[in-house]
Amino acid sequence: MGDVTEFQDRLLSLGLARVSEAAAIASARLIGRGDEKAADQAAVNAMRAQLNLLDIAGVVVIGEGERDEAPMLYIGEEVGTGRGPAVDIALDPLEGTTLTAKDMPNALTVIAMAPRGSLLHAPDVYMDKLAIGPAYEPDTVTLDMSPAARVRALARAKGVAADEIAVCILDRPRHEAMIAEVRATGAAIRLITDGDVAGVMHCAEPDVTGIDMYMGSGGAPEGVLAASALKCMGGHIFGRLLFRNDEERNRAAKAGITDLNRIYTRDDMVRDDVIFAATGVTQGSLLRGIKLGHGFVECETILMRSKTGSVRRVSYRAPLHG
Ligand code: FBP
Repeated sequence: MGDVTEFQDRLLSLGLARVSEAAAIASARLIGRGDEKAADQAAVNAMRAQLNLLDIAGVVVIGEGERDEAPMLYIGEEVGTGRGPAVDIALDPLEGTTLTAKDMPNALTVIAMAPRGSLLHAPDVYMDKLAIGPAYEPDTVTLDMSPAARVRALARAKGVAADEIAVCILDRPRHEAMIAEVRATGAAIRLITDGDVAGVMHCAEPDVTGIDMYMGSGGAPEGVLAASALKCMGGHIFGRLLFRNDEERNRAAKAGITDLNRIYTRDDMVRDDVIFAATGVTQGSLLRGIKLGHGFVECETILMRSKTGSVRRVSYRAPLHG
């Protein structure tokens, strides 16, 4: 029986790669066209159509929004054929809509799948995030440390000076003080304009990306997707939900969250084994971007399973029709 489950799990992972590929390919013609909405819609339509071919009884727990605000892939939508394992689905059909519209690096299509009830139902609010790679103990840095203390602690653990640490941060006015404090330690900062799922994933492969740590606030749903990726690649992420008003606190209550100050670890956000797939849309430091050639399309997908720690980078090439 164990073998059968394992086999299905492996087959399903390939299905998940197809889902993220389909979304990326659908948004390819919208790269650099200045239309975020059209790019997102194309990715959503394709992701949903492909997802519904999978033999799963899936429920979207991280999706395009609440049912009344998102017609497709809304939170609570049942996806898949209904024949197969009961699973939670977390997705972002286009993570980096503006990156895509402006043809800037690291836009991805992202999807994660885990047994039903195992993914945090993160409400659509901000989350304070902190992530480091697999080479460190989880408590090397904490959300309660100041940004400068995090840099110094990570440098100590890595056995280098603070000015040899590189931190990735979203370039936002709300991060000005954090950026200034990190700079004062001598550490390097890679500022990104969008796309913190990719930002966090950079920490898992510091030799490839040059990034040691991610910090700052971004979407909470993206935090769960990033935690799913790190559960497969190795690495640690901490997240604390941030609320700006009662409406946002109500969203958390609706999602069943009672402790508003809780710090979530990676394994609090993803409580069981997870399969994760992401396909590059624009050229990036983790994945190649979509290539539209004469009569063909090519893309690259990272496909990972936390159960085995397997990380595949899959190239896909197909003829273009029409
Ligand atoms: P979109 O793909 O919806 O544009 O989101 C991109 C993103 O940069 C996320 O990666 C990040 O978590 C969030 O937006 C940050 O939010 P804000 O732009 O409000 O700072």
